[in-house]
Amino acid sequence: MLLASALLAGLASLVVAEPLLTAKALLDGSPALPLGLHRRLRIQEQVASKGAEGTGWPSSSEQLSFSSPDEGHDYPAHTFNQLVSHDPAVPPPQPNATFPQRYWFDASYYKQGGPVILLDGGETDGAGRIPFLRQGILRILSEATGGIGIILEHRYYGSSFPTTSLSTDDLRFLDTRQSLHDSAHFARTVELPGLAHLNLTAGGSTPWLYVGGSYAGAKAAFARKLHPDVFWGAIASSAVTTAIVDFWQYYEPIRASAPADCIERLAENTALIDSLLSLNSSLVTPSLKSFFGLSNVTADADFVNALALPLGSWQARNWDGTVGSSRFDAFCDALTGNTSSLSTPARPIDAALLEGLDGLALPKDPRKTLASMSTYAAYVKEHIAALCPPDELQDACFGTDEYSGDGLDEYEWKSWAWQFCSEWGYFIGAAPEGTPSLVSRLLTLEYTGKICGKAFPPGKLNTGVSSMPAVHKINQWGSFDLAHSRLAFVDGSEDPWLYATPHSPIAPNPHRKDTLRRPFKLIKGGVHHWDENGLPPGRKEPREIAKIHRAEVEFVQSWMREWRERGRWRWGVGTGAEDGEGREVARWQ
Ligand SMILES: *[C@@H]1O[C@H](CO)[C@@H](O)[C@H](O)[C@H]1NC(C)=O
Ligand SMILES: *[C@@H]1O[C@H](CO)[C@@H](O)[C@H](O)[C@H]1NC(C)=O
Ligand SMILES: *[C@@H]1O[C@H](CO)[C@@H](O)[C@H](O)[C@H]1NC(C)=O
Ligand SMILES: *[C@@H]1O[C@H](CO)[C@@H](O)[C@H](O)[C@H]1NC(C)=O
Ligand SMILES: *[C@@H]1O[C@H](CO)[C@@H](O)[C@H](O)[C@H]1NC(C)=O
Repeated sequence: MLLASALLAGLASLVVAEPLLTAKALLDGSPALPLGLHRRLRIQEQVASKGAEGTGWPSSSEQLSFSSPDEGHDYPAHTFNQLVSHDPAVPPPQPNATFPQRYWFDASYYKQGGPVILLDGGETDGAGRIPFLRQGILRILSEATGGIGIILEHRYYGSSFPTTSLSTDDLRFLDTRQSLHDSAHFARTVELPGLAHLNLTAGGSTPWLYVGGSYAGAKAAFARKLHPDVFWGAIASSAVTTAIVDFWQYYEPIRASAPADCIERLAENTALIDSLLSLNSSLVTPSLKSFFGLSNVTADADFVNALALPLGSWQARNWDGTVGSSRFDAFCDALTGNTSSLSTPARPIDAALLEGLDGLALPKDPRKTLASMSTYAAYVKEHIAALCPPDELQDACFGTDEYSGDGLDEYEWKSWAWQFCSEWGYFIGAAPEGTPSLVSRLLTLEYTGKICGKAFPPGKLNTGVSSMPAVHKINQWGSFDLAHSRLAFVDGSEDPWLYATPHSPIAPNPHRKDTLRRPFKLIKGGVHHWDENGLPPGRKEPREIAKIHRAEVEFVQSWMREWRERGRWRWGVGTGAEDGEGREVARWQ
């Protein structure tokens, strides 16, 4: 609180320019999380979203299209009494204890016989998914099938907490399996307000479909496999079905798809900076850090970690410019000598640095390399270093040693950190020797994994994290090979998470046959779950997006035909009367 009010006082000048990084992008794409910087960005965004009203200037939190809770006002949040634990090995404080789990729904397209389509909120505030209900995948599928769209918030995110803190002990009910059981229990027992007279629960006369993107996409796939009697079908978008400890391949789709000259300059700069740092010179190192505007970042690894932050903006790209970010382009412009994103001219490389460079083998065109380093440094100074207020120590912003805080308001970074430390891995860092790296070789697993020991010391009921995430707990469900009837995989060819999905170039079979029953689709040029957002009626989607949305409607309609023909029969539910032909349109909200 003290921090918050102190910062608020000095922020006015900082919220003028569009920040390079959003708090969300920092969580998604930084090798090690600089928590101090994350906290500052959150506060700035809160200030900006209040201040931006009426200025016509998009606030940074509006840019966080998928996680802006303010957009929730049209759809009231409801709560479901969810079991605190579904796992007898981790008993709740009282038998059958429950907590309120939030959900939102839209039944305005419902027709008798239509499906319930459950969208897993994943590792964010569920309210941030409301655009998918209003005009995205839930709306598209509901309209096409006479269905009801529901967003279910994930336990330990947003406002759905089974505990009162995020201490290691209190995190004991957070794992992927528990949250999959949440969805199944919800589907089997929920009574939607105003719709209690309809038989909507799963296992009866209504088919349930599960959709999600990214981590939630993997959950959609797992849910179809582990609870086939509850979920009739699932769409797993950018589904990271394979948990991977050392996920250096995060950068491979960027390396393959970003402009070649930009990638070449970046790899060159990265290698040069590593060489300069390895001189371990008391002249060169300070001069290098200072050149990038980060002179007071003490640890060399924290310095190069800060240099990696702009790469997080690749994932934030979207086909809809109003929800995506074009910051990656500005970063590449700077690397390739286009200074239009710089407000001050790049400085020439100073004497101490030149002396350091002198002893190194420079790339074939040293002038080009040095020019690129100058504009790159100017960019980092202006867009990264400047994120830290002048009256704040740079180590307090860019340091990666401090991960304290057990309050529920820490969930944005801490709940997912618990999940990746305990089960998922996905430590993002340098490529192995022999592969060009877009980030420094100082970004080792040891460095990026530090957060786990620091944030989760052993508790009394929960021993904390083991030395390695237990990725087998996830990968036992099929990993790259996970397949099931009426389970669709939709990926993006330029998604930094591609290598963790069934379309991964390192999967045994990344070119499965694409059928109505087992759809297997790759959006050309697509990034992260690009099929989940849509446009308001009347606006035209780009060709690739319109195409995937048409395909999704087509295969879901075929799954619905299958349900009417044999699904309910197979499940031993009464036949006859309501055979899904109902034309009555109910308008509920
Ligand atoms: C807990 O729920 C189960 C299943 O509904 C029930 O059988 C059991 O009696 C409940 N226990 C208590 C203490 O309420
Ligand atoms: C709901 O299901 C019950 C039991 O399966 C059945 O008796 C009842 O007729 C159904 N109601 C509707 C409206 O379909
Ligand atoms: C770098 O130099 C310092 C002294 O200036 C020394 O203590 C340290 O061990 C050196 N590190 C490496 C990796 O050589
Ligand atoms: C680094 O620290 C010194 C001494 O506190 C301060 O004068 C200087 O402004 C700082 N530089 C940056 C870039 O933060
Ligand atoms: C520099 O970048 C800006 C913004 O992306 C672009 O409009 C401009 O054409 C670029 N200039 C050159 C010389 O490429």
